[in-house]
Amino acid sequence: MSKTFHILTYGCQMNEHDSEKISGMLNLIGYKDLNVENKEEIASADLVILNTCLIRENAAQKVYGKLGALKGLKRKNPNMLIAVCGCMMQKEEVRKQTLKKCPFIDIIFGTNNIHELPVLIEKAQENNNKVIEATKKAQLNSAVVSKIAKKVKKENTVSIIENTEEIHEDMPKARKYSHKALVNITYGCNNFCTYCVVPYTRGREKSREPEDIINEIKDLAQNGCKEVTLLGQNVNSYGKNLSKECSFADLLRKISKIDGIEFIRFMTSHPKDLSDDLIQAIKESEKICNHVHLPVQSGSSRILQEMNRRYTREHYIALADKIRREIPDVAITTDIIVGFPGETTEDFMETVDLVKKVQYESAFTFLYSPREGTKAATMENQVPEDEKHERFNLLLDTLYPIALSKNEECIGKTYKILVDEVSKSSEDYLTGRTEHFRLVHFKGDKSLIGQIVNVKIDTVKTFFLEGTIV
Ligand code: 5AD
Ligand code: SF4
Repeated sequence: MSKTFHILTYGCQMNEHDSEKISGMLNLIGYKDLNVENKEEIASADLVILNTCLIRENAAQKVYGKLGALKGLKRKNPNMLIAVCGCMMQKEEVRKQTLKKCPFIDIIFGTNNIHELPVLIEKAQENNNKVIEATKKAQLNSAVVSKIAKKVKKENTVSIIENTEEIHEDMPKARKYSHKALVNITYGCNNFCTYCVVPYTRGREKSREPEDIINEIKDLAQNGCKEVTLLGQNVNSYGKNLSKECSFADLLRKISKIDGIEFIRFMTSHPKDLSDDLIQAIKESEKICNHVHLPVQSGSSRILQEMNRRYTREHYIALADKIRREIPDVAITTDIIVGFPGETTEDFMETVDLVKKVQYESAFTFLYSPREGTKAATMENQVPEDEKHERFNLLLDTLYPIALSKNEECIGKTYKILVDEVSKSSEDYLTGRTEHFRLVHFKGDKSLIGQIVNVKIDTVKTFFLEGTIV
């Protein structure tokens, strides 16, 4: 009988895609995805993997909570291997702390060595078998042998590659959807925003060769894929280390020529590197979605400088204006951090003011979370938690009415939508996204999943639209 695995993914789309690579590697060595949610079924898995995130403290806390639950499951099913990977494991202190808290973890690997997984599993399996043997003996004999069992257990299989120039192109991927796909274009980040842990967990920026990206997408298209989302911490700096020059706009133009691909999305755009040529490429192509995710982080030039973002409030507003002017039917979304060290009420009110000026279609908002090893974590004037929360609520009160009124503009319009899945709230409804990344619910049969339909918008809420297939 083939072995089974269960994978839990925390954090961003980069991690989602890494999990697809991990699943691909596991399928290759005969493991089947259990694809279940409930605890009883997970308990029967031969391997449980937690793909972790370190971007904010609450992401890390969730992982510790889950590990606590897995400890109980492993006790009941000693054959189960527990593996932890992802960004949390890339940081030595966090790794040590995790192993101290959870010595029952069998395998630890990182973001740069997914390809090693089969070898790591084999090693951990041998070790686990030794533990099981020792435990059996302990039950037969005495408490003395249980001490031996503990000793054997201490050999966790840990393998991490800190920072690497290497890109493993040949990794299999077990993608979650066949009609849409995540595709890496760059790995890592060189920007060192002072609040952010990513350059320490994902290493320096590396671009994939355009041919490798194009071939991957051609292959996807031949297998029925209609939408790609290009992933990079800063897609606008794509191409810096390539053998032949190719900018992000050039890459987009090449991808738009691929037959079968109807929607091209990308994230994330750093405002300091967004070129006029990119705006032109979006404007020229029907396939490139009119959506720019452009994290602003703060509306105060002083705070932006402290964050090492390398643009000013004025530059950002002018850029957003230019994008709206050149691509009239565009959606601009953003990320905002509230309560960065030293942020005063005046700085925060500049963020509120910028939000009103830019009129975001939607935004991800975060409470600043100090990350060990980053510059901002050691800054003085950390903002008190209650103050952060107060500002956070005020920011939402500003963002939501704008998002709603922007959604209202969609009423009566018809959008081309790739059907993603059955709605979580009702079996008779399907969901998909407009090119602007607005979530739409509409009535329809699940046989339409993966097809492109036209949906006319009838009603709207702050976070989604409702419509009818026409
Ligand atoms: N605290 C809060 N938010 C953060 N982000 C990154 N680091 C932190 C942090 N330490 C947010 C940024 C980024 C998004 C992915 O996460 O807004 O754009
Ligand atoms: Fe983090 Fe800044 Fe890099 Fe984005 S650009 S991953 S926020 S360091």
